[in-house]
Amino acid sequence: MTDLSSVESYLPQIVAAPDLTALESLRIAALGKQGEVTVLLKTLGKMSPEERQARGPAIQALREAVTGAIADRRETLERAALDARLAAETLDMTLPVDAPPTGSVHPVSQVMDELAEIFADLGFAVATGPEIETDENNFDKLNIPASHPARAMHDTFYFEQNARTADGSAQSNPIDGGLAGVEARRMLLRTHTSPVQVRTMQAVADRTNGRGEPIRIIAPGRTYRSDSDSTHTPMFHQVEGLVIDRGITMGHLKWTLETFLRAYFERDDIVLRLRPSYFPFTEPSAEVDVGYTLTKGKRVIGGSDGWMEVLGSGMVHPRVIAACGLDPAEWQGFAFGCGIDRLAMLKYGMDDLRAFFDGDVRWLRHYGFSALDVPTLSGGISS
Ligand code: DAH
Repeated sequence: MTDLSSVESYLPQIVAAPDLTALESLRIAALGKQGEVTVLLKTLGKMSPEERQARGPAIQALREAVTGAIADRRETLERAALDARLAAETLDMTLPVDAPPTGSVHPVSQVMDELAEIFADLGFAVATGPEIETDENNFDKLNIPASHPARAMHDTFYFEQNARTADGSAQSNPIDGGLAGVEARRMLLRTHTSPVQVRTMQAVADRTNGRGEPIRIIAPGRTYRSDSDSTHTPMFHQVEGLVIDRGITMGHLKWTLETFLRAYFERDDIVLRLRPSYFPFTEPSAEVDVGYTLTKGKRVIGGSDGWMEVLGSGMVHPRVIAACGLDPAEWQGFAFGCGIDRLAMLKYGMDDLRAFFDGDVRWLRHYGFSALDVPTLSGGISS
């Protein structure tokens, strides 16, 4: 019969176990199916009640002591093994990575980054707004009332009015956070980035209790119109610019656009032509053409052999300023809107807009940009 003292000799062996394998052998020898402690425990069943009462507690205590000692030793050995691994396994972060980076930055993202960099230098912040808008922000507040012919020209994608969810409840309005007894507003996919002007001015009016403060933002983003051919896609990108301050004139507008386009096309010989035009939200309004030179039959931006329209602009209409809660007698400003995809095509020489959104890897490899070359004014906008 296994006696207690032979089992007790496991304790010093466990404490001295040199590694986890040795410890595991001891565990099997003591606590395994045929282990000495297990065998000892089995003897309890065959004892008389008196004997069991006399010897039972000692045997149970011994089992607990052996189990506890094994757990302690295991923890110590495991911690030591981890420490040893941590000390031995070092990773040299300065080693060059073997594989060249795959993937590229899409030209639209690249141009957006370039715009943000150029305008940040002029003190403009980047503003954003939702792509699902109210017709109030997309049209009414921009001085395009329901009867205005400009609405028809926008080929707008409207959402169903009073759209209902599957459970029959009125669909919550993503802008206002719920209909709650209010007449449902007609939602649409924004047809231009101009509603970000409205949101920005309104936010300033709210924050300053209508007193107002200077604003300088650009708002790049996705816009939607039901239109598709080689120069139009149902989803496209625009950038909006807005400056609000006291005493702003068309001179500020022209200088800003000239500075922007020179930095963007990375040429000093950029010539602008402002043509009188009409937009409901600006008065006066101007379309801006940029001059090009014919080089080997190709149009190259710069010089003035011919003119290409690049953006719409004007002085923010006093009605728009007032609709957004600011006093047009105190605050004036200019705004402009420009197609980002077109800007990319002009600078990087693509000729079919649809290829921008096909997701063809060969096209992306050819026209894409390295994620590691971030545009900076000092290091080169499109380096
Ligand atoms: N929102 C106009 C469009 O999509 C572009 C535009 C023109 C924006 C003149 C402006 C602006 O801010 O002043 O056609």
